[in-house]
This record gives sequence, structure tokens and C-alpha cells, in this order.
Amino acid sequence: MIEKIRQTEAEFRSALDAASTAAAVDEVRVRFFGRKGGAVHALFSELKSVPPEKKKEVGEELNRMRDALEAELRAKLEALKAEEGARKERRSALDVTLPARMPRIGHLHPTTIVRREIEEIFREMGYSVEPGPEIENDWYNFGALNFTPEHPARDTQDTFYVGEDLLLRTHTSNVQIRFMETHKPPIKVLAPGRVFRRDEITLRRSPMFHQIEGLLVDRGIHFGHLKGTLEHFLRQIFSPDTKVRFRPSYFPFTEPSAEVDIQCSFCEGEGCGTCSQTGWMEILGCGMVHPQVLRNCGIDPEEWSGFAFGLGIDRVAMRKFGIPNIRVLFENDLRVLGQF
Ligand code: DAH
Repeated sequence: MIEKIRQTEAEFRSALDAASTAAAVDEVRVRFFGRKGGAVHALFSELKSVPPEKKKEVGEELNRMRDALEAELRAKLEALKAEEGARKERRSALDVTLPARMPRIGHLHPTTIVRREIEEIFREMGYSVEPGPEIENDWYNFGALNFTPEHPARDTQDTFYVGEDLLLRTHTSNVQIRFMETHKPPIKVLAPGRVFRRDEITLRRSPMFHQIEGLLVDRGIHFGHLKGTLEHFLRQIFSPDTKVRFRPSYFPFTEPSAEVDIQCSFCEGEGCGTCSQTGWMEILGCGMVHPQVLRNCGIDPEEWSGFAFGLGIDRVAMRKFGIPNIRVLFENDLRVLGQF
């Protein structure tokens, strides 16, 4: 019997040694101390059949063993708990030497970058930046700008109508009228914004694009002021050696009128898809404000004269960043936009 006790004790120790989790320790407890089938319990039941003269010795031995094993069980559980606590602490500890995770921050769209640059160049020349509505009526988008009701130039700006006498503005020139109506000369304003036309999407055209309108009205303003201003601007926004040309043109609201092209940067003037094989890219329209337009806004053309221009921001961005296709600007593909 004593032999059996020793053996059980040895088995218990090796089982306890092998248990490395609280659950495993509990299994050992059940195996040895369980009421049903527990090994220690079984030994106590065998005490009955021990001869009387040995009972005291065996009983004492059994009690000693049980106390010892129970104490070991408790100690092991406590040790495991302490270890688990230490592990948790280690896991939650801050490692200040780890490289930081960079937050994902956005950045400006290429069109916005260019718009701000343009605004800055004109601010330095004393222009203020003014907002204007994208939904407009016929008068501000066309009528006041000298597009008479049957004027053929209306056809060049195929229009989205959104209601009776309500349309999406086809250009930012509406702001010229709105500003002159409410301000007396001298006037020096810049009006950036979105414009809309029923155009097919091509490499250079999109039904929505961005323009910046410029307007200056003062005494004695002539075409030389316009040319000087735009040349200064183009040299600033591109480079001093950018090839630029002024072409005579026609707009109902300016007289005389011109269009300004820059040499196509993709083919260097050779002709390619982006410039429709012309070697040039049209970026702005301009001219001297038509006397009738001044009159429509209550400004006396005998006293005041002015110039105006309308510039395609997206085309400037394409040229500056070497983007051959305007769609890239509006498709919101982050793999592309992330590059600017
Ligand atoms: N509004 C014209 C367009 O979108 C561009 C333009 C031409 C604006 C001449 C002007 C200007 O201010 O004077 O085609």
C-alpha cells in the first residue's frame, strides 16, 4: 500500500509538471482528486482493507500525501496565473522604438493646385477672387453678354437646361455681369469655377470642366494692358520660354477678341492626339469688354473700358503635369491622383 501511495505521488508529479495551462492543471486535479474515480480518493477507499496494525501508518502516509499534493496543485495554479499576468503586461507594453505608422492624409487635386497658383499670380497683381453661381439663367449666361436670342454663337456652347430659363452655366463669364451689376469700376476680379457643356468626352473635352474668368475695368484700358497681363501670367504659370500665340477670334461679349494657344507639350508642336494634330493647345479666350456689355451693367463705356479673359484650368493642369487625357482629372483614380 505504501508503495502504491508513492507511485500515485510520482504519477501526480509528472502529470503536474507536464500541465502548462490552467485547464491542464484542472484536468490533473480531477484525475487525482475527483470524487468519482480520482486516484487519491480510490486510495482512501482502499484503507478499509488494510490490516488494523498497519492502518495508522498507512492513514498518516495517505493524509500527508494528500496535503502535499493539494499544496503543489495550488502552487502550480498560482505560478501559472502569475506568468499569464506577466505575459499580458509584456504584450500591452508600449514599444517606443517601433517606427510610427504614417496616417493616410489626402492632398490637393491637380486642378486645385493649379487654380490656387493662378489665383496667387493674379492676387499679386491686385485681383480679388469672387464666387459665382453654377446654375444660372439665360440673361447672365448669355443675354447680358450680348448673345442675342438667335445668336449663332449660342450653338458653340451646347447647354444643359435644368428648368424654364435655368441652365448650368457654360462659362464663368456670368460672373462678369453679376460683379459689374453690383460694383462700380475700377474693377479687378478673378472668378474660378465649374462649367458645363453638352460635349462628347475626348482627350481634351469633358462635359464638366473648370474655368477662371478675369475682368478688369478702369479708365483708359486698351488691348496692350490685356496682352501684357496675360503674357506676364503665362510666363509665371509655365516657364519664361513657353511658346504662346494670340489668334484673332470672336466672342459676342468682347471686341476685339482673341484666343491664346500654348505649344503642345506632348508633341512639341509636331501634332498629336492631345492637340488634334495642330501642335497647339487652346487655353484661353480674351478680349476688350464690348461696350454693350458695360452698358447692360450700368457702366458708361465712354468713361470706362476693360478687358476680360476666360481660362481653362484643367488644360493648364494637363500641360503643367504632362497629363495627356483630361479624363484622368475626373475619374478619381487614387493611383493616378496620388502622383501629384
Ligand atoms: N467664355 C468664353 C468661353 O468659355 C471664354 C472667354 C472668352 C472669356 C473671352 C472671356 C473673354 O472673358 O473675354 O469660351
